[in-house]
Amino acid sequence: MSYLSGKNIVLGITGSIAAYKSAELVRELREAGAEVRVVMTEAATSFITPLTMQALSGKPVHTRLVDDEAEAVMGHIQLARWADLIVVAPASADFLARLVQGRANDLLAALCLATSAPLAVVPAMNTGMWEHPATQDNVARLRQRGVRLLGPAEGDLACGEYGTGRMLETGLVLQQLGDSFDTGQLSGCRVVVTAGPTREPIDPVRYISNRSSGKMGYAVAQAAAEAGADVLLISGPVALTAPQGVKRILVESAGDMQEAVMADIDGCDLFVAAAAVADYTIDRPAVQKLKKRARDLQIALKRTPDILAGVAALPDRPFTVGFAAETEDLEVNARKKRLSKSLDLVAANLVGQPGTGFDADENRLHVFWEGGSRLLPTAPKQRLARELVRLIADHYHNRRNARETHAKDSA
Ligand SMILES: Cc1cc2nc3c(=O)[nH]c(=O)nc-3n(C[C@H](O)[C@H](O)[C@H](O)COP(=O)(O)O)c2cc1C
Repeated sequence: MSYLSGKNIVLGITGSIAAYKSAELVRELREAGAEVRVVMTEAATSFITPLTMQALSGKPVHTRLVDDEAEAVMGHIQLARWADLIVVAPASADFLARLVQGRANDLLAALCLATSAPLAVVPAMNTGMWEHPATQDNVARLRQRGVRLLGPAEGDLACGEYGTGRMLETGLVLQQLGDSFDTGQLSGCRVVVTAGPTREPIDPVRYISNRSSGKMGYAVAQAAAEAGADVLLISGPVALTAPQGVKRILVESAGDMQEAVMADIDGCDLFVAAAAVADYTIDRPAVQKLKKRARDLQIALKRTPDILAGVAALPDRPFTVGFAAETEDLEVNARKKRLSKSLDLVAANLVGQPGTGFDADENRLHVFWEGGSRLLPTAPKQRLARELVRLIADHYHNRRNARETHAKDSA
């Protein structure tokens, strides 16, 4: 399954005769739903024009590190943060050497150094260059650092020789890039995620709700699916489409959400409650639209069911993760919430501040568990969700392993 849809990809192009293939690659990446920004080395511009790449990517092409105009629009550090993945295709022998050395004297090398996103390189060169011990050493060191190497393939080379060094065909590059988002960490697991706000009806046309956009919960559902889980997303009303590979149930009120969760929680391994569920609902919603009157209106509210605590209290409960949206005393409130609801993990975020939290595209999370915590720094919600899911999966597997060991010891 390909998970390139919605991903931000920086496509780096270096000075190789295979650079023309990256024109096809950018088209295929976009067809797969990815957003692509092209960065070219100076040498690459001798092989294929930035204009071609601009027309195919639909975005300005970045070529120079020191460029006032480009820095003003999307600077190199912003590009490094924007990327969910950097792929250098084709990657020249010289560029591989620069990566090993950690050089930052051209835009593409500087980006690769500055980013925390995964890096993939697609080497393309003459067989002699590829087989040279210097290149082989470089490749081994890059692999050790976690850089993904795609190819090269064996075949006829532009120099007239036959051997290893051809750039991998774009179809295969695309497939392997898509697979790189599939971590498999949660394969075989059933995960239920809640997301979005709830709407508590006042009358048939009015309701009380909150500012949740659902973006964080949807990103978690997508990240869990990418980690191989079978994901059910139970969502309040949002303006988002269901992530690829995720089954979605749409609900309105806190009561509806509780019903949907309880109907599907049986046999679920992990429950992630990212929805901003109303704490109160209208005691008696009016059956007909309320008319404007001369006097003020009082509406009686009653407590809604606590879905998260309800799931955590089940006898055979799943690994349970809650979100805490706080406007003050984040750490104290998040720890309190974890303990009072017996949660395995709480991911807390400050809301009500510009740029993060509700409705923003970026967020920062402080995650708490028994005896520990970790700060996941500000990042786009999709990237943050992948890190959070990685953390959740680690804790989930540790707990499962500990239980299995305990069961064996007491048998
Ligand atoms: C016609 C021609 C074709 C080249 N093809 C390749 C190639 O396929 N792979 C490679 O590693 N270098 C190739 N080179 C050499 C690189 O262009 C050169 O090492 C350059 O400095 C790489 O710069 P860059 O890594 O900044 O893009 C080629 C050079 C020329 C003149």
